[in-house]
Amino acid sequence: MKTLLFILVISLLVLQHNQVHAQKIQNGPLTSGRAPSFTVVSTQGEINFPYDYFGKWKILFSHPADFTPVCTTEILALAEMQDDFKDLKTALIVISTDGLNSHIEWIKSMESIAAESMNPVKIDFPLIADTDLKVSRLYGLLQPGPSERDIRGVVFIDPDNEIRAFFHYPESIGRNIPEIKRTLIALQTQDRHDVLTPANWQPGEEVLIKSPESIRDAERLEQRNDPKLRKAAWYLWYRTL
Ligand code: BEZ
Repeated sequence: MKTLLFILVISLLVLQHNQVHAQKIQNGPLTSGRAPSFTVVSTQGEINFPYDYFGKWKILFSHPADFTPVCTTEILALAEMQDDFKDLKTALIVISTDGLNSHIEWIKSMESIAAESMNPVKIDFPLIADTDLKVSRLYGLLQPGPSERDIRGVVFIDPDNEIRAFFHYPESIGRNIPEIKRTLIALQTQDRHDVLTPANWQPGEEVLIKSPESIRDAERLEQRNDPKLRKAAWYLWYRTL
């Protein structure tokens, strides 16, 4: 009887584990919540995520495959702006399901393309070799269906290891790296000043404050006569930083 009970409990645990695992695979990209941790090999050695990046912002940049045209232009564009991301205390980490040797050869090839036809650049961020799909599954970055390659995804993770934004681009369209930088600065501005940013906002421009909860709160704001505030409607207020 005891043995039967033991087998029943183990079977239930295995069933539950498989369901959780299946859910993780099917859930699609993680767009918010705690960033899952992982240990993985990369072109810059083993990565212990997020512990190796204490106090930093992190951007995970997934791509379908090495030695493909769109991905190549994206990694080179990212490398051209890598110092801007360093200045913003942000680590760039590239993921695909291709292997380490492929990544290393591809980096060499991309650096020689840059040396011959653009500004010479050294790719100074790691490419993760997610050959067992572990990281891609954790973050829901695998393409749906039988393909075992990644989508074109961008995951923004803050210094507290919370996922703050997620972008998904089609396989045929290269990402806009200045837009990724702009979003990062907007997130950092939001955290620093407790504000929002309007459409097409660029660093240095007016931001938005949270909407007053009532017309009475809006009247109180108006009575402050704060020269840094500008009212467009009772619920829409701009602020100069
Ligand atoms: C590319 O990066 O060029 C690419 C990757 C996968 C499918 C199609 C294009």
